Amino acid sequence: MPRLRPLTLLATLLTLFTLYTLHNHLLPTPFTHKPSSPPLHPLPLSCPTHALLNNILVVLKTGVTESRTKVPIHLTTTLRCIPNYAIFSDYIEPLTPTLSTHDVLSSLSPALIAQNPDFDLYRRVHAAGPSALTPADLNPDTNTPIGKPNNPGWKLDKWKFLPMLETALAVKPDAEWYVFMEADTFIVWENLLRWLERFDTSEKWYLGNQMQIVDAIFAHGGSGFILSRPAVEAAVERRKMSSDGWERAVMEHWAGDCMLGLLLEDAGVPLTWAWPMVQIAPPGEMDYFSRGYEKRPWCYPVVSFHHLDARGVAELEGLLGGSGKGGVVLWRDVFLEMVRPQVQSVRMGWDNLADGDVVEVKSFAACRGVCVREALCLQYRFNETDGSCATSKLLMVGRGAADVASGWMTERIDAVAGSLGECREVSWIG
Ligand SMILES: *[C@@H]1O[C@H](CO)[C@@H](O)[C@H](O)[C@H]1NC(C)=O
Repeated sequence: MPRLRPLTLLATLLTLFTLYTLHNHLLPTPFTHKPSSPPLHPLPLSCPTHALLNNILVVLKTGVTESRTKVPIHLTTTLRCIPNYAIFSDYIEPLTPTLSTHDVLSSLSPALIAQNPDFDLYRRVHAAGPSALTPADLNPDTNTPIGKPNNPGWKLDKWKFLPMLETALAVKPDAEWYVFMEADTFIVWENLLRWLERFDTSEKWYLGNQMQIVDAIFAHGGSGFILSRPAVEAAVERRKMSSDGWERAVMEHWAGDCMLGLLLEDAGVPLTWAWPMVQIAPPGEMDYFSRGYEKRPWCYPVVSFHHLDARGVAELEGLLGGSGKGGVVLWRDVFLEMVRPQVQSVRMGWDNLADGDVVEVKSFAACRGVCVREALCLQYRFNETDGSCATSKLLMVGRGAADVASGWMTERIDAVAGSLGECREVSWIG
Protein backbone atom coordinates (compact mmCIF):
# COMPACT_ATOMS: atom_id res chain seq x y z
CA MET A 1 0.00 0.00 0.00
CA PRO A 2 1.36 3.43 -0.78
CA ARG A 3 1.63 5.67 2.24
CA LEU A 4 1.15 9.36 2.44
CA ARG A 5 4.25 10.95 3.83
CA PRO A 6 5.79 14.38 4.03
CA LEU A 7 8.67 14.96 1.70
CA THR A 8 12.25 14.59 2.81
CA LEU A 9 15.74 15.09 1.40
CA LEU A 10 15.09 14.86 -2.33
CA ALA A 11 12.22 17.17 -1.59
CA THR A 12 14.56 19.74 -0.15
CA LEU A 13 16.63 19.84 -3.32
CA LEU A 14 13.49 20.13 -5.36
CA THR A 15 12.32 23.06 -3.24
CA LEU A 16 15.51 24.93 -3.88
CA PHE A 17 15.16 24.28 -7.57
CA THR A 18 11.51 25.35 -7.51
CA LEU A 19 12.31 28.51 -5.60
CA TYR A 20 15.05 29.31 -8.07
CA THR A 21 12.70 28.82 -10.98
CA LEU A 22 10.01 30.87 -9.31
CA HIS A 23 12.42 33.66 -8.61
CA ASN A 24 13.20 33.89 -12.29
CA HIS A 25 9.53 34.06 -13.15
CA LEU A 26 8.72 36.99 -10.96
CA LEU A 27 8.06 40.29 -12.61
CA PRO A 28 8.80 43.44 -10.68
CA THR A 29 5.64 45.39 -11.48
CA PRO A 30 2.14 44.78 -10.14
CA PHE A 31 -0.28 43.24 -12.61
CA THR A 32 -3.45 44.92 -13.70
CA HIS A 33 -6.71 43.07 -13.77
CA LYS A 34 -9.15 43.05 -16.59
CA PRO A 35 -12.67 44.02 -15.63
CA SER A 36 -14.52 40.74 -15.23
CA SER A 37 -18.06 39.60 -15.87
CA PRO A 38 -20.75 40.50 -13.27
CA PRO A 39 -20.40 38.70 -9.93
CA LEU A 40 -22.25 35.43 -9.41
CA HIS A 41 -23.20 36.63 -5.92
CA PRO A 42 -23.71 40.39 -5.46
CA LEU A 43 -21.91 41.34 -2.25
CA PRO A 44 -23.44 42.95 0.84
CA LEU A 45 -22.48 46.63 1.03
CA SER A 46 -20.35 46.01 4.10
CA CYS A 47 -17.91 43.86 2.11
CA PRO A 48 -14.63 45.35 0.86
CA THR A 49 -14.14 45.31 -2.90
CA HIS A 50 -10.95 44.20 -4.52
CA ALA A 51 -10.17 44.17 -8.25
CA LEU A 52 -8.47 40.79 -8.11
CA LEU A 53 -11.24 39.23 -6.03
CA ASN A 54 -13.69 39.76 -8.89
CA ASN A 55 -11.40 37.66 -11.06
CA ILE A 56 -11.31 34.66 -8.74
CA LEU A 57 -13.69 31.72 -8.66
CA VAL A 58 -13.76 29.98 -5.28
CA VAL A 59 -14.88 26.37 -5.43
CA LEU A 60 -15.96 24.65 -2.25
CA LYS A 61 -15.95 20.91 -2.86
CA THR A 62 -18.32 18.90 -0.71
CA GLY A 63 -20.66 15.90 -0.96
CA VAL A 64 -24.24 15.02 -0.16
CA THR A 65 -23.19 13.35 3.11
CA GLU A 66 -21.97 16.66 4.57
CA SER A 67 -23.40 19.48 2.44
CA ARG A 68 -26.28 20.31 4.78
CA THR A 69 -24.24 20.12 7.99
CA LYS A 70 -20.84 21.56 7.03
CA VAL A 71 -21.43 24.04 4.21
CA PRO A 72 -24.01 26.53 5.63
CA ILE A 73 -21.53 28.07 8.12
CA HIS A 74 -19.30 29.03 5.16
CA LEU A 75 -22.11 30.90 3.40
CA THR A 76 -22.35 33.38 6.28
CA THR A 77 -18.63 33.55 7.11
CA THR A 78 -15.88 32.41 4.72
CA LEU A 79 -17.88 33.01 1.52
CA ARG A 80 -19.94 36.02 2.59
CA CYS A 81 -17.72 38.56 0.84
CA ILE A 82 -16.69 36.37 -2.10
CA PRO A 83 -18.34 37.60 -5.31
CA ASN A 84 -17.77 34.40 -7.30
CA TYR A 85 -18.08 31.02 -5.68
CA ALA A 86 -19.73 27.68 -6.38
CA ILE A 87 -20.44 24.59 -4.30
CA PHE A 88 -19.30 21.44 -6.10
CA SER A 89 -20.83 18.19 -4.96
CA ASP A 90 -22.07 14.79 -6.11
CA TYR A 91 -25.73 15.80 -6.02
CA ILE A 92 -27.71 18.88 -7.04
CA GLU A 93 -29.60 20.32 -4.09
CA PRO A 94 -30.62 23.81 -2.96
CA LEU A 95 -28.68 25.11 0.04
CA THR A 96 -30.49 28.46 0.12
CA PRO A 97 -33.36 29.80 -2.02
CA THR A 98 -30.77 31.21 -4.45
CA LEU A 99 -27.90 28.74 -4.19
CA SER A 100 -27.71 25.19 -5.50
CA THR A 101 -24.85 22.72 -5.49
CA HIS A 102 -23.41 21.36 -8.75
CA ASP A 103 -23.06 17.67 -9.50
CA VAL A 104 -19.54 17.46 -10.93
CA LEU A 105 -19.71 13.69 -11.42
CA SER A 106 -22.55 13.68 -13.96
CA SER A 107 -20.08 14.04 -16.87
CA LEU A 108 -18.27 10.78 -16.03
CA SER A 109 -19.01 7.80 -18.24
CA PRO A 110 -22.42 6.18 -17.62
CA ALA A 111 -20.82 2.71 -17.45
CA LEU A 112 -18.49 3.82 -14.66
CA ILE A 113 -21.35 5.37 -12.69
CA ALA A 114 -23.56 2.30 -13.21
CA GLN A 115 -20.98 -0.32 -12.27
CA ASN A 116 -18.19 1.00 -10.08
CA PRO A 117 -18.73 0.20 -6.38
CA ASP A 118 -17.46 3.68 -5.41
CA PHE A 119 -20.69 5.01 -6.97
CA ASP A 120 -23.03 2.96 -4.80
CA LEU A 121 -23.84 6.01 -2.67
CA TYR A 122 -24.21 8.16 -5.79
CA ARG A 123 -26.65 5.74 -7.41
CA ARG A 124 -28.77 5.46 -4.27
CA VAL A 125 -28.99 9.21 -3.69
CA HIS A 126 -29.69 9.94 -7.36
CA ALA A 127 -32.48 7.36 -7.37
CA ALA A 128 -34.16 8.29 -4.10
CA GLY A 129 -32.73 11.60 -2.82
CA PRO A 130 -30.75 12.29 0.38
CA SER A 131 -33.24 10.22 2.40
CA ALA A 132 -31.46 7.20 0.89
CA LEU A 133 -28.42 8.00 3.02
CA THR A 134 -27.82 5.43 5.74
CA PRO A 135 -26.23 5.93 9.17
CA ALA A 136 -23.13 4.19 7.76
CA ASP A 137 -22.90 6.86 5.03
CA LEU A 138 -23.00 9.63 7.62
CA ASN A 139 -20.60 8.02 10.07
CA PRO A 140 -17.45 10.16 10.21
CA ASP A 141 -14.97 7.29 10.42
CA THR A 142 -11.37 7.84 11.33
CA ASN A 143 -8.68 8.94 8.95
CA THR A 144 -5.87 6.51 8.09
CA PRO A 145 -2.66 6.97 6.09
CA ILE A 146 -4.67 6.05 3.00
CA GLY A 147 -7.73 8.15 3.76
CA LYS A 148 -11.07 6.76 4.95
CA PRO A 149 -11.51 3.52 2.99
CA ASN A 150 -14.70 2.63 4.90
CA ASN A 151 -16.42 5.93 4.23
CA PRO A 152 -18.68 5.89 1.12
CA GLY A 153 -18.60 9.68 0.74
CA TRP A 154 -14.82 9.69 0.87
CA LYS A 155 -14.53 6.97 -1.78
CA LEU A 156 -16.78 8.94 -4.10
CA ASP A 157 -14.89 12.17 -3.47
CA LYS A 158 -11.74 11.18 -5.34
CA TRP A 159 -13.74 11.13 -8.58
CA LYS A 160 -14.52 14.86 -8.32
CA PHE A 161 -11.01 16.25 -8.72
CA LEU A 162 -10.63 15.91 -12.49
CA PRO A 163 -14.16 16.73 -13.76
CA MET A 164 -14.42 19.69 -11.40
CA LEU A 165 -11.91 21.58 -13.53
CA GLU A 166 -14.36 21.57 -16.46
CA THR A 167 -17.23 22.58 -14.22
CA ALA A 168 -15.15 25.44 -12.82
CA LEU A 169 -14.42 26.75 -16.31
CA ALA A 170 -18.11 26.46 -17.19
CA VAL A 171 -19.17 28.39 -14.07
CA LYS A 172 -16.72 31.24 -14.63
CA PRO A 173 -14.81 30.99 -17.90
CA ASP A 174 -13.01 34.31 -17.46
CA ALA A 175 -11.55 33.92 -13.96
CA GLU A 176 -7.84 34.54 -13.56
CA TRP A 177 -7.63 32.17 -10.60
CA TYR A 178 -9.55 29.11 -9.43
CA VAL A 179 -9.31 28.52 -5.68
CA PHE A 180 -10.35 25.07 -4.47
CA MET A 181 -11.26 24.45 -0.85
CA GLU A 182 -13.27 21.93 1.18
CA ALA A 183 -15.84 22.27 3.95
CA ASP A 184 -13.16 21.95 6.65
CA THR A 185 -10.75 24.45 5.03
CA PHE A 186 -10.39 28.04 6.26
CA ILE A 187 -8.88 30.70 4.00
CA VAL A 188 -7.53 34.08 5.05
CA TRP A 189 -8.69 36.00 1.98
CA GLU A 190 -6.79 39.20 2.57
CA ASN A 191 -3.52 37.28 2.64
CA LEU A 192 -4.49 35.11 -0.32
CA LEU A 193 -5.23 38.18 -2.45
CA ARG A 194 -1.94 39.83 -1.59
CA TRP A 195 -0.16 36.61 -2.44
CA LEU A 196 -1.88 36.02 -5.77
CA GLU A 197 -1.20 39.61 -6.82
CA ARG A 198 2.45 38.68 -7.09
CA PHE A 199 1.95 36.23 -9.97
CA ASP A 200 1.64 36.72 -13.71
CA THR A 201 -1.68 35.03 -14.45
CA SER A 202 -0.92 34.53 -18.11
CA GLU A 203 1.26 31.64 -16.92
CA LYS A 204 0.29 28.22 -15.60
CA TRP A 205 0.31 28.13 -11.82
CA TYR A 206 -0.53 25.32 -9.41
CA LEU A 207 -0.04 26.47 -5.83
CA GLY A 208 -0.58 24.16 -2.88
CA ASN A 209 0.65 22.25 0.14
CA GLN A 210 3.10 19.69 -1.22
CA MET A 211 2.45 16.03 -0.53
CA GLN A 212 4.03 12.89 -1.86
CA ILE A 213 2.63 9.45 -2.60
CA VAL A 214 5.31 7.14 -3.96
CA ASP A 215 6.95 9.46 -6.50
CA ALA A 216 3.97 11.70 -7.25
CA ILE A 217 4.06 15.22 -5.85
CA PHE A 218 0.79 17.09 -5.61
CA ALA A 219 -1.16 19.72 -3.68
CA HIS A 220 -3.10 18.36 -0.71
CA GLY A 221 -6.81 18.88 -1.36
CA GLY A 222 -8.01 19.74 2.15
CA SER A 223 -5.35 22.43 2.60
CA GLY A 224 -6.82 24.24 -0.39
CA PHE A 225 -5.00 24.78 -3.70
CA ILE A 226 -5.02 27.38 -6.43
CA LEU A 227 -4.78 27.15 -10.21
CA SER A 228 -4.39 29.94 -12.75
CA ARG A 229 -6.76 29.75 -15.71
CA PRO A 230 -4.03 28.62 -18.16
CA ALA A 231 -3.26 25.75 -15.77
CA VAL A 232 -6.92 24.68 -15.57
CA GLU A 233 -7.26 24.89 -19.35
CA ALA A 234 -4.09 22.88 -19.93
CA ALA A 235 -5.29 20.11 -17.60
CA VAL A 236 -8.74 20.00 -19.19
CA GLU A 237 -7.21 19.73 -22.67
CA ARG A 238 -4.78 17.07 -21.54
CA ARG A 239 -7.54 14.95 -20.00
CA LYS A 240 -9.58 15.17 -23.21
CA MET A 241 -6.67 13.62 -25.09
CA SER A 242 -6.98 10.35 -23.18
CA SER A 243 -9.51 7.82 -24.44
CA ASP A 244 -11.23 7.34 -21.07
CA GLY A 245 -10.70 10.75 -19.47
CA TRP A 246 -8.30 9.21 -16.93
CA GLU A 247 -11.10 7.10 -15.44
CA ARG A 248 -9.01 3.93 -15.26
CA ALA A 249 -6.15 5.82 -13.64
CA VAL A 250 -8.45 7.30 -11.00
CA MET A 251 -10.03 3.88 -10.40
CA GLU A 252 -6.63 2.42 -9.58
CA HIS A 253 -5.57 5.14 -7.19
CA TRP A 254 -7.00 6.10 -3.80
CA ALA A 255 -6.25 9.83 -3.75
CA GLY A 256 -8.06 12.21 -6.09
CA ASP A 257 -5.82 15.17 -5.25
CA CYS A 258 -2.82 13.05 -6.24
CA MET A 259 -4.44 12.21 -9.59
CA LEU A 260 -5.02 15.89 -10.22
CA GLY A 261 -1.33 16.53 -9.52
CA LEU A 262 -0.37 13.82 -12.01
CA LEU A 263 -2.70 15.23 -14.66
CA LEU A 264 -1.27 18.71 -14.15
CA GLU A 265 2.27 17.39 -14.31
CA ASP A 266 1.36 15.63 -17.55
CA ALA A 267 -0.02 18.92 -18.83
CA GLY A 268 3.28 20.65 -18.07
CA VAL A 269 2.13 22.40 -14.90
CA PRO A 270 4.52 21.85 -11.98
CA LEU A 271 3.45 22.35 -8.38
CA THR A 272 4.66 25.43 -6.57
CA TRP A 273 5.35 24.25 -3.02
CA ALA A 274 3.25 26.53 -0.86
CA TRP A 275 3.88 25.20 2.65
CA PRO A 276 3.85 26.93 5.18
CA MET A 277 1.41 29.45 3.71
CA VAL A 278 -1.07 26.67 3.00
CA GLN A 279 -1.59 24.23 5.88
CA ILE A 280 -2.97 20.77 6.48
CA ALA A 281 -3.91 21.42 10.13
CA PRO A 282 -5.85 23.84 12.33
CA PRO A 283 -3.94 26.58 14.22
CA GLY A 284 -3.77 24.45 17.39
CA GLU A 285 -1.99 21.57 15.67
CA MET A 286 0.71 23.58 13.99
CA ASP A 287 4.31 23.69 15.20
CA TYR A 288 5.16 27.39 15.15
CA PHE A 289 8.92 27.18 15.67
CA SER A 290 10.35 24.37 13.55
CA ARG A 291 11.59 24.49 10.02
CA GLY A 292 9.99 22.41 7.32
CA TYR A 293 11.20 22.10 3.74
CA GLU A 294 14.00 24.57 4.56
CA LYS A 295 11.49 27.21 5.63
CA ARG A 296 10.58 28.55 9.04
CA PRO A 297 6.89 29.55 9.11
CA TRP A 298 7.39 32.57 11.44
CA CYS A 299 7.43 35.42 8.88
CA TYR A 300 5.25 33.80 6.22
CA PRO A 301 1.63 34.94 5.79
CA VAL A 302 -1.10 32.47 6.79
CA VAL A 303 -3.32 31.59 3.87
CA SER A 304 -5.13 28.42 4.89
CA PHE A 305 -5.94 26.05 7.74
CA HIS A 306 -7.55 22.64 7.57
CA HIS A 307 -9.56 20.23 9.76
CA LEU A 308 -11.89 22.86 11.12
CA ASP A 309 -15.43 22.12 12.21
CA ALA A 310 -18.19 24.72 12.00
CA ARG A 311 -17.22 26.13 15.42
CA GLY A 312 -13.59 26.40 14.38
CA VAL A 313 -14.55 28.19 11.18
CA ALA A 314 -16.71 30.69 13.06
CA GLU A 315 -13.95 31.26 15.63
CA LEU A 316 -11.27 31.91 13.00
CA GLU A 317 -13.61 34.15 11.05
CA GLY A 318 -13.96 36.29 14.17
CA LEU A 319 -10.19 36.45 14.68
CA LEU A 320 -8.83 36.64 11.14
CA GLY A 321 -11.73 37.28 8.81
CA GLY A 322 -13.36 40.50 7.80
CA SER A 323 -11.72 43.59 6.47
CA GLY A 324 -9.88 46.60 7.76
CA LYS A 325 -7.13 44.68 9.48
CA GLY A 326 -4.70 46.34 7.16
CA GLY A 327 -1.50 44.36 7.34
CA VAL A 328 -0.76 40.84 6.31
CA VAL A 329 -1.28 38.27 9.08
CA LEU A 330 1.91 36.28 9.61
CA TRP A 331 2.44 33.02 11.47
CA ARG A 332 4.14 35.10 14.15
CA ASP A 333 0.91 37.07 14.61
CA VAL A 334 -1.11 33.89 14.94
CA PHE A 335 1.37 32.64 17.52
CA LEU A 336 1.26 35.84 19.57
CA GLU A 337 -2.49 36.42 19.35
CA MET A 338 -4.01 32.95 19.29
CA VAL A 339 -1.43 30.49 20.55
CA ARG A 340 0.62 32.19 23.26
CA PRO A 341 -2.44 33.13 25.37
CA GLN A 342 -3.35 29.42 25.54
CA VAL A 343 0.09 28.30 26.61
CA GLN A 344 0.37 28.05 30.39
CA SER A 345 2.34 26.11 33.02
CA VAL A 346 -0.55 23.81 33.83
CA ARG A 347 -3.65 23.01 31.83
CA MET A 348 -5.88 20.24 33.18
CA GLY A 349 -8.18 18.28 30.87
CA TRP A 350 -6.02 19.28 27.94
CA ASP A 351 -3.85 17.37 25.45
CA ASN A 352 -1.08 19.46 23.90
CA LEU A 353 -0.17 16.59 21.56
CA ALA A 354 3.41 16.28 22.86
CA ASP A 355 4.68 13.28 20.95
CA GLY A 356 8.37 13.00 21.77
CA ASP A 357 9.94 10.64 24.32
CA VAL A 358 7.51 8.77 26.58
CA VAL A 359 8.31 7.62 30.12
CA GLU A 360 6.16 6.31 32.94
CA VAL A 361 5.85 8.55 35.98
CA LYS A 362 3.70 8.77 39.11
CA SER A 363 2.33 12.29 38.78
CA PHE A 364 1.88 15.38 36.67
CA ALA A 365 4.59 17.07 38.79
CA ALA A 366 7.02 14.27 37.98
CA CYS A 367 6.21 14.64 34.31
CA ARG A 368 6.96 18.31 34.50
CA GLY A 369 10.26 17.40 36.18
CA VAL A 370 11.22 15.28 33.18
CA CYS A 371 10.69 18.24 30.90
CA VAL A 372 12.48 20.68 33.20
CA ARG A 373 15.62 18.49 33.15
CA GLU A 374 15.65 18.28 29.36
CA ALA A 375 17.09 21.59 28.13
CA LEU A 376 15.20 21.68 24.83
CA CYS A 377 11.86 20.39 26.14
CA LEU A 378 9.06 22.88 25.49
CA GLN A 379 6.00 20.94 26.57
CA TYR A 380 4.76 17.76 28.23
CA ARG A 381 1.54 15.84 28.73
CA PHE A 382 0.61 13.44 31.49
CA ASN A 383 -2.00 10.76 30.83
CA GLU A 384 -3.73 10.09 34.15
CA THR A 385 -5.13 6.75 32.95
CA ASP A 386 -1.87 5.00 32.18
CA GLY A 387 0.69 7.27 33.89
CA SER A 388 2.54 7.97 30.66
CA CYS A 389 4.48 11.20 30.35
CA ALA A 390 5.31 12.47 26.88
CA THR A 391 7.62 15.43 26.32
CA SER A 392 8.30 17.40 23.16
CA LYS A 393 10.71 19.91 21.70
CA LEU A 394 7.95 21.23 19.45
CA LEU A 395 5.32 23.73 20.46
CA MET A 396 1.66 22.99 19.91
CA VAL A 397 -1.58 24.06 21.54
CA GLY A 398 -3.59 20.87 21.14
CA ARG A 399 -7.14 20.31 22.31
CA GLY A 400 -9.34 19.32 25.22
CA ALA A 401 -9.03 15.71 26.49
CA ALA A 402 -10.62 14.36 29.67
CA ASP A 403 -7.87 12.14 31.07
CA VAL A 404 -4.83 14.24 30.21
CA ALA A 405 -3.07 17.22 31.79
CA SER A 406 -0.62 19.33 29.83
CA GLY A 407 1.99 21.91 30.59
CA TRP A 408 4.42 24.15 28.76
CA MET A 409 7.80 25.66 29.64
CA THR A 410 6.58 29.20 29.14
CA GLU A 411 9.92 30.94 29.73
CA ARG A 412 11.70 28.73 27.22
CA ILE A 413 8.90 29.29 24.74
CA ASP A 414 9.09 33.04 25.15
CA ALA A 415 12.85 32.85 24.69
CA VAL A 416 12.48 30.95 21.43
CA ALA A 417 9.80 33.35 20.20
CA GLY A 418 12.05 36.25 21.16
CA SER A 419 14.97 34.79 19.25
CA LEU A 420 12.86 34.41 16.13
CA GLY A 421 12.21 38.10 16.50
CA GLU A 422 10.05 40.53 14.64
CA CYS A 423 9.40 40.24 10.95
CA ARG A 424 10.77 43.30 9.20
CA GLU A 425 10.04 41.69 5.90
CA VAL A 426 7.22 39.40 4.92
CA SER A 427 8.38 36.09 3.45
CA TRP A 428 6.44 35.10 0.35
CA ILE A 429 6.46 32.04 -1.83
CA GLY A 430 6.67 33.09 -5.44
C1 LIG B 1 -4.56 7.77 27.94
O1 LIG B 1 -4.21 6.41 28.12
C2 LIG B 1 -5.24 5.49 27.89
C3 LIG B 1 -4.74 4.10 28.23
O2 LIG B 1 -3.54 3.82 27.51
C4 LIG B 1 -5.68 5.61 26.43
O3 LIG B 1 -6.75 4.72 26.18
C5 LIG B 1 -6.11 7.04 26.16
O4 LIG B 1 -6.44 7.18 24.78
C6 LIG B 1 -5.00 8.00 26.50
N1 LIG B 1 -5.48 9.37 26.30
C7 LIG B 1 -4.94 10.22 25.40
C8 LIG B 1 -5.65 11.51 25.22
O5 LIG B 1 -3.93 9.95 24.80
